Amino acid sequence: MDDKEFDLDAIRDVVPEHKEEQIQDVFYSFLELEHLYDSAIELVKTQLNIFDNEFSMRFQRNPIHNIESRIKTPQSIVGKLQRKGMPVTPESARNNLTDIAGVRVICCYIDDIYAIADLLTDHSAFQLRKIKDYIKNPKPNGYRSFHMILDVPVYMSNGKEIAPVEIQIRTIAMDFWASLEHKLKYKKNIENAEEISKELQRCAEASSKLDLRMQALRDRIEAERE
Ligand code: GTP
Ligand code: MG
Repeated sequence: MDDKEFDLDAIRDVVPEHKEEQIQDVFYSFLELEHLYDSAIELVKTQLNIFDNEFSMRFQRNPIHNIESRIKTPQSIVGKLQRKGMPVTPESARNNLTDIAGVRVICCYIDDIYAIADLLTDHSAFQLRKIKDYIKNPKPNGYRSFHMILDVPVYMSNGKEIAPVEIQIRTIAMDFWASLEHKLKYKKNIENAEEISKELQRCAEASSKLDLRMQALRDRIEAERE
């Protein structure tokens, strides 16, 4: 997910109407934006690692398998603002986009997803803005994941700034499915597209059943240990 790329030409390409000095200003604003969102990602990741280490210490297990993060490139920010018909400025990006900073938390079991989501929700510094539970309500194509947007306070030398961070929490199986589906989505002009999306849906069902069985298995083993 690491697709950090910041160069002046990228800005020049997307805002050709700006004069050179304006491009410098826009570039600097984008740098500030990147620093803010990068910092918000680091704060969320640190908190997630604190939770994971505590679980490891208290219960001898890790709810988090791994954490990935990415920050949207200026090209992608501009593309999304244009698609939404919104002004193409760093301020507009801050006000209108909530997925500039993204953290993906891959868990081992379904219960871990809700445990992590609850811990983040109860964290007093983070303000919950939005939840989308695509596990309880999978998307028609079969996509499953728990999404939340958190407002994260970042303390700068000149005061507090708030940055929204999109957090996707999913099991290894959900991540496996989403990664392959994402790759397949970009293969154009494939024959039998309908049959392929049906099969993808069936794979999502099978994968979800596997998650439930692994969860049940873990519950049984835990019960026997007590
Ligand atoms: P966007 O404007 O695309 O960000 O959608 P949204 O604001 O309605 O957010 P949503 O929570 O639906 O999806 C945000 C992110 O979840 C996407 O950028 C993907 O990373 C992931 N996602 C959502 N739907 C799918 C899907 O069908 N397949 C895959 N592979 N990923 C998905
Ligand atoms: Mg998005």
